[in-house]
Amino acid sequence: MHDLQRSFIPFPRALSAWLFTALTMSATACAAPSASVGADNTGTTQWRSALHYTPQRNWMNDPNGLVYYKGLYHLFYQYNPNGNVWGDMSWGHATSRDLLHWDEQPVAMHANEREEIFSGSIVVDAHNSSGLGPANSSPLVALYTSAYKTGSGHPQGTQAQSLAYSIDDGQTWHQYPRNPVLTLDPESKNFRDPKVSWYAPGGYWLMTTVVADAHVVKIYRSNNLIDWAFLSDFSLPDFPNRGALWEMPDLFALPLDGDSRNQKWVMIVNVNPWSIAGGSGAMYFVGNFDGKTFTPEHVAPAGSDPARYQWLDHGADYYAAGTFANSPGGEAVMIGWMSNWDYASQIPTTPWKGAMALPRLLALKTVDGQPQLIFAPVEQYARLLGEDSTTRVNAFAVSSATRQFAASTRGIVQNITVTLSPGSARRAGLIVRGSENGETGTRIFYDTTRGTLTLDRSRSGVTDFSNAFSKQHIVNLPLENGKLRLTVIVDRNSVEVFAGDGRTVITDLIFPAQTDNRVSVFADDGEATFSDIAITDLAAPHREGPRR
Ligand code: FRU
Repeated sequence: MHDLQRSFIPFPRALSAWLFTALTMSATACAAPSASVGADNTGTTQWRSALHYTPQRNWMNDPNGLVYYKGLYHLFYQYNPNGNVWGDMSWGHATSRDLLHWDEQPVAMHANEREEIFSGSIVVDAHNSSGLGPANSSPLVALYTSAYKTGSGHPQGTQAQSLAYSIDDGQTWHQYPRNPVLTLDPESKNFRDPKVSWYAPGGYWLMTTVVADAHVVKIYRSNNLIDWAFLSDFSLPDFPNRGALWEMPDLFALPLDGDSRNQKWVMIVNVNPWSIAGGSGAMYFVGNFDGKTFTPEHVAPAGSDPARYQWLDHGADYYAAGTFANSPGGEAVMIGWMSNWDYASQIPTTPWKGAMALPRLLALKTVDGQPQLIFAPVEQYARLLGEDSTTRVNAFAVSSATRQFAASTRGIVQNITVTLSPGSARRAGLIVRGSENGETGTRIFYDTTRGTLTLDRSRSGVTDFSNAFSKQHIVNLPLENGKLRLTVIVDRNSVEVFAGDGRTVITDLIFPAQTDNRVSVFADDGEATFSDIAITDLAAPHREGPRR
């Protein structure tokens, strides 16, 4: 137990916000909280996300067909209408006006006797280039992967790209009669995940797709979304893990440092396993695209480990990420699946499994001479951060101690912003979803000897459902002027840390006890300062979501 009073800087307004109880987060192992897994008819409601999309029932994985159209964001997704396990893959559907409150819609496309409907994308065919809509209409056109069954006329398990279209704004979908529109020769069991976009400089459609086990992104072009011509392959000759799969590619342009005359191209490659945090994760490359070939500017040297590559997220639960088509202002708005193939089927939620991470806005910025993606929650998120539900705390220092915030800051769905100055501390940070006695909680801390930020979920609640549920996720992140700005978004089932003004994000699932609602800060072996602290309760009834 450390002397709390000694290290406390008594700012009058902050004073009232403190509970004067020092907690030692000792290393004693703690029992998992008594979580009721499926104990009643409503299932594990304590882990039903408030801010993140989850289907009411059943299994969900990748986001598919992300498109903004007529004022609505459409989120389609890999969905099993028949169970809470992966299978019978179909496209589920949800819509939102603000990317935060989602309305679940009827299943858009069902698996049938010939095929399962694997991942893909949707575009607004603004000038009816496909001819699939009535004259002068703008049909929505989906390109998806047909995963063939026996009796389909294709070898069982092979995959090809198929087309479906909607002429009622995405409510009902019609399969193109002459599917598939793109097949490999010979047919492949790993040719999937078409992502389509409009390439304005050339006036044609682009498709990126993968041969997952060959670690290659194949790029095609089309004038009508039906006939596709091969353009080029993107691969890394030295990609170190020949056993990993490349999935869910995406290719789009962004201005570098906000300069619209200096567009760079970003190639997203989701990779499983071999992620920076273990299992599934999303790499990206920045470079040029000349209408035919994507050329990355910086590639890790041969034999490099994952830390030498650029990642969309450094947590364990951000996969199959892709961007919205037709987003207002052409912004790069991204959604990822908040899970990991290492343990997705074992997570203890019922009657659903799978959530989407918070939609984010991407920008490209030069950091240390290299273009890097910068991430922020979508602009709409700021609307949830009302002053009336925010507690502000004045700056203070903590010296070799843990300090729990006052009762007014407790919550299980909250936004926490803090500027951390680790100072002389060996490690300093915060604990969210902590228990009253401090034995459980998710720790987010900076290690000054290593220059790293860590999310530690080893004592975050239920963790023993899978040995692959990795416990610590660590990222190299230099301080800026000795400081690190953190935005921590806490939900019933997850923690997302946006660090260093969006230079890094750590997204991790957690399975805490409902009563674990305390926020604390700590400094180990030295003194750290915490400033610009704001804790916003996001669980107020009018914010309770998703709306259905
Ligand atoms: C990625 C993925 C895709 C595939 C889909 C099947 O998570 O494996 O490559 O299309 O899931 O559900």
